[in-house]
Amino acid sequence: MPIKSTMIIDKDFRLAEVDPRIYGSFIEHLGRAVYGGIYDPGHPTADQNGFRNDAIEAIRALNVPIIRYPGGNFVSGYNWEDGVGPKHERKQSLELAWWTTETNQVGTNEFADWAKLVGSEVMMAVNLGTRGIDAARNLVEYCNHPSGSYYSDLRISHGYKEPHAFKTWCLGNEMDGPWQIGAKTAVEYGRLANETAKAMRWVDPTLELVACGSSGSGMDTFAEWEATVLDLSYDNVDYLSLHTYYNNNNDDTPNFLARSMDLDHFISSVAATCDYVQAKKKSKKKINLSLDEWNVWKSQGSSRAEQHWQIAPPEFEDVYTLEDALVVGCCLISLLKHADRVKMACLAQLINVIAPIMTENGGPLWLQTTYYPYLHASLYGRGTVLHPLISSPKYDSKDFTDVPYLEAISVYNEELNEVTVFAVNRHLSEGLELDVDLRSFSSVNIIEHIVLEHEDIKAVNTKSNPHNVMPSQGKAVVEGGHVKALLAKASWNVIRLRVNG
Ligand code: AHR
Repeated sequence: MPIKSTMIIDKDFRLAEVDPRIYGSFIEHLGRAVYGGIYDPGHPTADQNGFRNDAIEAIRALNVPIIRYPGGNFVSGYNWEDGVGPKHERKQSLELAWWTTETNQVGTNEFADWAKLVGSEVMMAVNLGTRGIDAARNLVEYCNHPSGSYYSDLRISHGYKEPHAFKTWCLGNEMDGPWQIGAKTAVEYGRLANETAKAMRWVDPTLELVACGSSGSGMDTFAEWEATVLDLSYDNVDYLSLHTYYNNNNDDTPNFLARSMDLDHFISSVAATCDYVQAKKKSKKKINLSLDEWNVWKSQGSSRAEQHWQIAPPEFEDVYTLEDALVVGCCLISLLKHADRVKMACLAQLINVIAPIMTENGGPLWLQTTYYPYLHASLYGRGTVLHPLISSPKYDSKDFTDVPYLEAISVYNEELNEVTVFAVNRHLSEGLELDVDLRSFSSVNIIEHIVLEHEDIKAVNTKSNPHNVMPSQGKAVVEGGHVKALLAKASWNVIRLRVNG
């Protein structure tokens, strides 16, 4: 017997406009993300600059608004100067975050070129591990200053007459983490972030700057870190970062599927901490959130001995199941539920490293299960989030109580006259009847009902079986102004509606 759930969607229940940058992603010089992923000069589809066209196509299709670069932990040891200028003169460097050799064949200018090809903005990160204010302000000058100064003219001499005009910049990466090269205390980092932000903005006043929050809510210093860092940098930064990864390594699927409730709580806690500092400072300025690393992440990293200074060895090449895709879907819904505070988010990462897209060096490309919820949310989750009233049966799991079987949200795109309902049925063995009351819309019809499901929740897509888990069409209908659908057990659903009045 299917269980029943309801949603009321009303065009007056407006939560917030979606900032499209919540559908951002991340490419780090790590594993085969850059070398073998986006850049593979010997590949049959490679363009004249060595970029794989098959990867460009798969990424363009996602309509990714912003991509964070070049790290991650990598950035905390990165000398940006090593990655610019004639390629044959670039050094090979020992890369201390992942114990590999960095060839520097892709650097800032190549990445800027590539980002244009996939239609994305770049979210740059500066090194606040081994470097500091000077390298950061020089990099801004190199990238964004038109001409007439040493670094802007150096860029021009490298063949880039027009500035890159990168707008969004991260002030370091996970500076609270002991694994980070040049990790800092909150006071050390807060002061450095503040002073670096000032200097960067004196070079380019249009920058938007992201200060590092904790590398995860499980850190001992969580919340205190956020409060101290913001206390020391409030007037000079715009966003605070959050990072989170989930896995089902204990093989407890009901608990794993509830993990987006942890994300809900994490976002609310960080927003509350930002607001605490705002209140303390009696400031009119609100700090918004950048969830600039999130995903399902299951694998352990290689040791220093295993990495052994190889060039772009495979690392963190997680193979994603249907249940992983459902968690990604639930997290995307969580981002939409917090669209009033989360203005940027980066699915970490985009290709080959904990990624929705996989490639073989010199060989084929295939799409993981997690590609699909990301694709659907990015394509159809733009507009205004309408806060739905949801009624759903619930369950308890190891770490969560009152987990609704139905996780859902709706987005109204007034320009296109479309309402989209994103919904996950967390039930592992029962279909879930969904009745959506669209009382404020006089007439709607179904454009399509996309479903991601599979008999086996552990099903994956691989190089040899790339179409095992693929979206299909469901059977949502409109009856008496209500949308009715049966959401298959353990499924991701996208119900797209045309609004006729
Ligand atoms: O995304 C992989 C790594 O996870 C990043 O380099 C780091 O910031 C985080 O710990």
